[in-house]
Parts: sequence; structure tokens; C-alpha cells
Amino acid sequence: MQQVNLGMIGGGTVGSGVFHALQLNGGLLASRIGVEVRVRKVAVKAFDEPRPYEIPKSSMTTDWQAVVSDPQVDVIAELAGGTAIARTMVLAALKLGKPVVTANKALLSACGEELFAAAREHGTNLYYEASVCGGIPIIKSLREGFVGNRITRLYGIVNGTCNYILTRMKLEGADFEAVLKDAQAQGYAEAEPSLDVDGHDAMHKIGILASLAHGFWVNPKDIYVEGIRSVTQTDIQFANQLGYTIKLLGIIKRDEGQGTKAGARRSSPARVQVSVYPTLVPNGHVLASVNHVFNAVFVRGDIVGDTLFYGRGAGKDATASAVLSDLADAALDLKFGTKHRVPPFVQHERDGAVVPIGDVVSRYFVRLNVMDKPGVLAKISAIFGEAAIGISSVIQPEGHQGATVPLILMLHDAPNGAVTRALKKISGLAVVKGAPVMIRVENFA
Ligand code: NDP
Ligand code: HSE
Repeated sequence: MQQVNLGMIGGGTVGSGVFHALQLNGGLLASRIGVEVRVRKVAVKAFDEPRPYEIPKSSMTTDWQAVVSDPQVDVIAELAGGTAIARTMVLAALKLGKPVVTANKALLSACGEELFAAAREHGTNLYYEASVCGGIPIIKSLREGFVGNRITRLYGIVNGTCNYILTRMKLEGADFEAVLKDAQAQGYAEAEPSLDVDGHDAMHKIGILASLAHGFWVNPKDIYVEGIRSVTQTDIQFANQLGYTIKLLGIIKRDEGQGTKAGARRSSPARVQVSVYPTLVPNGHVLASVNHVFNAVFVRGDIVGDTLFYGRGAGKDATASAVLSDLADAALDLKFGTKHRVPPFVQHERDGAVVPIGDVVSRYFVRLNVMDKPGVLAKISAIFGEAAIGISSVIQPEGHQGATVPLILMLHDAPNGAVTRALKKISGLAVVKGAPVMIRVENFA
């Protein structure tokens, strides 16, 4: 049987998961693809760090450069994380013509175009299934399974840590910080957990998916991002009373008209909403019941219709499963000499653009803290009325004590810019206390 030697950089959560998975299922993989993937060396920072799965000291080194340049190493897996050093590692391997498998979405978001170009230039490939949604094969699905579809909608719960936190806050009334600590202990969170809770990790992933789906490389600066730090127990409970669950949702929506009218979609450049923010999801929608560390991606293609992917979005084993799938592809490409059988990314939509968030139209949940006296609602609705923003319902729960009471408004479809401006005016009213809360509502149309 043919053999491919693997050099790994990183033996932490994902790296040790891959090492373990190859021990467990390496034989099965070999019998399926006809190539044995053998770990030659694992580079780490320090031998004595605790690891979720043990890696024998004899398999470890602290010299990643020696791993990359080892002539016996055929494939590199970059599972170290970060952007600066990881970019150096990946480029070093690609320049030697060695295929690289990475789980590093932050790196791809920041330097994807450069790395894909380097892979092309040096006649090799870059594989990144594990970078988005852990064990869900969403990269392969978009790139290969849906190659004949124009993707009109993609909604994703793509960050396991945030979904874990929001689920436990809703179901157990758990405290944000305590659940975040637990997510870290489980190996779900990034080394820098603000990447998770501030929405940046989801932004990295949604940018990768949007680029693949629409054929132009989405600049991370164009993606509107809000994390989950400002989501409170109060809003989770009010949303629930109204029939909604709050999820951190990545949204990729092609402008209306372009996905449905055959003539228009052939001629006009893609205008796509690409954003990440906490969203009210109707409890009846399947994404509302995706809980804990699970991720889910809803994809609508113009030919296939609606599809749904579900699975563990983080953690050592789920992510290792995706890395193994990429290692199999790399091994097969080496075996058959098909280096660019599936290029990592193909630009086919040169004039595509991201719609600025101010122009994005959605519905809204707004919570205000207002003085409990007559005329308050009239003042607020006058401001919304002047901005042509319709109110679909108003709730003022009874039984609140004190000088101020919560006022919850559900707004009809309106552009984000108009709603933001109206809320700024409303927060200046003497009868409104504190900053308004605004959470977008998705109807999945
Ligand atoms: P960890 O921090 O658990 O592991 C990182 C590993 O890289 C450690 O083994 C560390 O060594 C090693 N390392 C770091 N810098 C160097 C260096 N300069 N030279 C050699 N080794 C180095 O991170 P994760 O495994 O969680 O994440 C790895 C990557 O996978 C990241 O890009 C992450 O975003 C991504 N990812 C993570 C998922 C998860 O669920 N955790 C899921 C999907 C993707 P040492 O052990 O000695 O500290
Ligand atoms: N920190 C990431 C998450 C890991 O929680 O989803 C998986 O990419």
C-alpha cells in the first residue's frame, strides 16, 4: 500500500484529536483510499503541556521548521492557530510544494487569497474543511455537492461556543461567564475566547462560506459583526415569550431578484448580505432547536432548494473528523498526481460586492426602558412613524415596580440604517432611560 507521511504542527485540542483519530481509524481510512497516512512528527511548543489525548514524546518536536522541511514529510497539517506564525508555517510548506491541511479560519479570513495563490504558484493545494463548523462537511458540500447551484440563502449557527452559551442561558438561566469557562474547559473556545463571544470567529467562517458560495473573496472588513456579550437573560426570556429563540446567526443573502430571475442572475453582479449578529429565530424554525455545541447550516440553492447540515461545530473529535477527510483528499491527490483536482477557491464573480449593513432590510425586536407615565408610547411611535418604520406589536408587561418599565416593540421590515437613526433619537427622549436594545428578527424568506 502507498504511504503518505504527515507532519503536524500543533498537538493541542485539534492536533491531539487528529493523532488519536488516526490511531483509531487510520487502518479504515487506508483501506478506503488505498493510501496509508502515517504521522511522522508533531510539532508543539512544549512537551509537557497537558493534552486531551496523549502523544508519545518520541513523536513530538518543538521545531516546526524541521517538520516542514523534513524531506520524508509529504503533507503538513497546520493545527497551531493564530495568524502571524501560522501564515509563516503554511507559506513555508506551500513553497516546498507540500500540500497543507488547516483548521485555521482566522488565518484563511486574513490571508486566504494570498495562501491560495501561493498554493497555485507552487503547484500544490490547501485544504480547509475543518476551518468551518467542526465536523460538518460544509466546505465540500458548497464547493462540490452544490457546484451546479447558485446559492441564494445561507443561514448558519457556526460558532459552537456562542451556541453553547446561549443555549445554557436560555434552558438553565445560566450565567454567561460561568458557561464560557465551561466551554473553554471542554476545548470549544478559541485560545482567545473574545474571538468567539465577540462574533469574530463566526465572521471568519461566514466570510469563507460567502466567498465559496458567491465566487468573490469577501473582505472581512465588509462583514457586519455583533457578538453575544450584550445578549441578556431579560431579552432571552422576552424573546421566548414572543415565540423566538436568540441565536448568533451568520447570514449570507443574495439580493432579491438575482437569485430568482434567470436573465438578471446571469448579467448582474452579486450583491450579497454577509453578516453575523444575534438574531431572533422563530421557535418553529429548525435552527431554533440547534442547541449546545452543535452547529447547523441551512443552504438554499436555486436548483436543489432547501438543505440543512447539522453536527458538532467544535471540539477535538468532530474537528479531527474534518481534518481526516482533508488528509484523505490530500493523500489521493498525491497518489494520482491530481494537485488541483478541486482548487481551494475559484474566483468566478469578479464584480461581486457585500451590501452595507445600513441598506440591509430586516425586522426587529426593540426593548426600551421607559418612564411609566402617559404619552410615552406616542412619543416613541411618532419617531418611528417619521422614519416610515412600522410597529407590528407593542408589549408592556404588567406587574413591574418602580419608576421605569420595559417596553418591547416588534418592528416591520425596515433598513438597518433607518432603524439605527430612529433609535438614536428615541434614546435622546427624556422618558427613555438607558440604551435601547435592538435585535434583528429573521423570517427566512
Ligand atoms: P490549542 O491551543 O489546543 O493547540 C494549539 C497547538 O499548537 C498546541 O499543541 C501548541 O503547542 C501548538 N503550537 C502553537 N504554537 C506553536 C509553535 N510556534 N510551534 C509549534 N507548536 C505550536 O488549539 P486548538 O487545537 O483548539 O486549535 C488549533 C486550530 O484549530 C486553531 O486554528 C483553531 O481556530 C482551529 N479549530 C479549533 C477547534 C476547536 O474546537 N478547538 C475547531 C475547529 C478549528 P503546546 O501544546 O505545546 O502548547
Ligand atoms: N471556537 C470555535 C467554536 C471552534 O466555538 O465554534 C470551532 O471552530
